[in-house]
This record gives sequence, structure tokens and C-alpha cells, in this order.
Amino acid sequence: MKNIQLLIAITLLICIGMSFQVLAEEKNIELPEAQKEGGMPLMEALALRRSQRNLSEEAVSDQILSSLLWAATGENRPNGYRTVPSARNWRGIDVYVARPDGLFLYQPDKHRLLQIKTDDVRPHTGGQEFVQKAPVVLIYVADHARMADAPPEAVKFYSATDTGFISQNVYLFCAANDLATVVVGWVDKENLKKEMGLSETQHVILTQPVGHPARD
Ligand SMILES: Cc1cc2nc3c(=O)[nH]c(=O)nc-3n(C[C@H](O)[C@H](O)[C@H](O)COP(=O)(O)O)c2cc1C
Repeated sequence: MKNIQLLIAITLLICIGMSFQVLAEEKNIELPEAQKEGGMPLMEALALRRSQRNLSEEAVSDQILSSLLWAATGENRPNGYRTVPSARNWRGIDVYVARPDGLFLYQPDKHRLLQIKTDDVRPHTGGQEFVQKAPVVLIYVADHARMADAPPEAVKFYSATDTGFISQNVYLFCAANDLATVVVGWVDKENLKKEMGLSETQHVILTQPVGHPARD
């Protein structure tokens, strides 16, 4: 009798464990294929690139987000190299996505969003109100653990330069696709780090809200 009870208890525990796993997986977002062809000629996108702070709160579709993230730091070669260069190929910058439905980490190798939190962290992503209300806020995070063999000054320098490449790709994608964006340094980075639950070696560098332009 005791053996049967034990068997039932173990089976129940396995079922509960499996359902938790299913729930956790369901929260990740498998992004649709990015649109990698066509689009606006580069010189026209450069002519249109600008910072825009008048963002609509309207949601940005997963299709647009997919292409935006691929432009930001997606893989563009079979060996895993990216649309942006990175110092010593450390790939030390991660792009997090803050939306009303939570915080996600963009995984370029899987081209998906891994859910990190279900909380809305956008109120912590910038001192200006339009940042906190943007439908998508990209958060650029350097992981110093991946740059561990470099002197501290180089780590700081490369964290900034590598983020700049990503941000400019986002600016150009937005210019070419009638989206509004601005890169943001006015943010309490330590507080955001805490709200995101980042590790000791991870550091917020900049944030960048993206949305459809508000039409008055
Ligand atoms: C590193 C960096 C940090 C910035 N931080 C902010 C910011 O916190 N808030 C903001 O509204 N704009 C910010 N900007 C945007 C600049 O104000 C903007 O690029 C500049 O005014 C030139 O305008 P443009 O981008 O339209 O050419 C930042 C730009 C850079 C490069």
C-alpha cells in the first residue's frame, strides 16, 4: 500500500514539474522570420535618421520586432557572426526587450525572445515619460564576464562602442520603416539593473525606446 502511495506521489510530482516546464516555455516568443530583403535604400535611410521622442503607445507587431532585432544584432552568417561588429568577437552586449507583458532577452542564435520577467519594467528604463510609455524599450546590457581577460578600461570602452553599433542599426531600421526611436542615457542604471534582476557582471549601458510615431 505504502509503495502505491509513493508511486502516486512521485507521478504527481513529475506531472507538476512537467506542467511548470510547459508554462515556462509558453512564455518565450518564437519570432517570425525577419524580413531581410528589399526595404529602403541605405542612403535614403541615412537621410531620414533622427531622434524622435513623440512615440505612440500602439503595440509593435512581432513581425516588426523580429526584423528590428535581427537588424540590431541578429546572426547574418552561418558561423553565428552578427549584423554588428563586436570587439574581439566577444559578443558582449545583450539586447533585452521591455514590453507591457514583461522583460525578454533576445537570443540571436535561436531568433527568439526568452522571457525573463512578467513584470513591466518600462517605468525604470528612462527618466523621460515617453520612454516609460513606449510599446518597446530595448535595453543594452554588457556582460563583463565575457570580456574577463581585458583590462577594466578596455571593457568599459568596448561595452560603449559595441552598444553604439547596435543602436545605430536600430536607428537605421527605424528610419527605413517609419518607426520612432531615440537612444537614451538618462536612466538610473543601477536601479534598472536591480529591477531586471541582472547579475553582478552585467551592466546597463543605454536604453532605446521604439514605437510608431505619434500622429496628432
Ligand atoms: C549616448 C547618447 C545618449 C543620449 N541620451 C539621450 C537621452 O537620455 N534622452 C534623449 O531624449 N536623447 C538622448 N540622446 C539623443 C540625442 O539628444 C540626439 O542624438 C541629439 O540631440 C542629436 O539629434 P538626432 O539624433 O536627431 O540627430 C542621446 C544620444 C546619445 C548618442
